[in-house]
Amino acid sequence: MSGTATSLSTPCSILLRQPLGFSHSSSLWTTKHERYGRRRANDFPAVTARLELKPPPYPLNALEPHMSQETLSYHWGKHHRGYVENLNKQIMGTDLDGMSLEDIIILTYNKGVILPPFNNAAQVWNHELFWDSMKPGGGGKPTSHLLELIQRDFGSFETFLNEFKTAASSQFGSGWAWLAYKANRLDVGNAVNPRPADDDKKLVVVKSPNAVNPLVWGYLPLLVIDVWEHAYFLDYENGRSDFITIFMEKLVSWDAVSIRLEMAKAQTAKRERQDLKRQELEERNADDDPVVEMYLDSDSDVSEAE
Ligand SMILES: [Fe+2]
Repeated sequence: MSGTATSLSTPCSILLRQPLGFSHSSSLWTTKHERYGRRRANDFPAVTARLELKPPPYPLNALEPHMSQETLSYHWGKHHRGYVENLNKQIMGTDLDGMSLEDIIILTYNKGVILPPFNNAAQVWNHELFWDSMKPGGGGKPTSHLLELIQRDFGSFETFLNEFKTAASSQFGSGWAWLAYKANRLDVGNAVNPRPADDDKKLVVVKSPNAVNPLVWGYLPLLVIDVWEHAYFLDYENGRSDFITIFMEKLVSWDAVSIRLEMAKAQTAKRERQDLKRQELEERNADDDPVVEMYLDSDSDVSEAE
């Protein structure tokens, strides 16, 4: 991935993103050359985007026997690679060129009217988080603060486990199941934002079809399982539920989830501070505005009425 995109250890770098300040229309698809017409090519900034294929943070055989080297080689080496390469082709020369992966996802989600690069961009992000959601010798139970929040928001770890497994197994067709931190809202104009609700600042389990990523709803993903058939068919054939059970018992990296939880909470607090500052500024500006008095010309008013 490019320097502006996520790092493998911090797949939630969306958390650091600033609101975007341009329109979110299909004009993203006009190339710089098309928009500026006859200007010479060397007037334009160089193409900077070159999203890279990031490897999993462990050797490809490290998750055996629960996820075979063959599965990981195929899944990462072909599927994930394909998404990266196709995305690079799609965004080259467009306004998306050089943006962070997260910005591309939010922009091309386009309030649900999905623009062509969305699927590849989201699949790149989703797979990076998926690799990071596992580790050799994973599974078991989370500890400390993460466990406390799971118990607070789901009642018990076992209830959470059931909800997560149900979401993953009931996702019809291809998709993903997530544990996410539901912040109050995502401060970008393009997202379909849930309104503030009682369950803000809580952990939630959600599932999504195809490439959809909860970032577009303002959620901050902490953990994900890929339930596309390519994720498990070589090892479990059509036994998705077996794969889900093994993922939770032997593969999940609660350490990584704990780190992302702290990042999500920190970013939510930062958003709130920014919102407060913006609100104070707006109120101050409103106070500074001169009072505009309007007078009605009664004669002209009458004549218009007639
Ligand atoms: Fe996949």
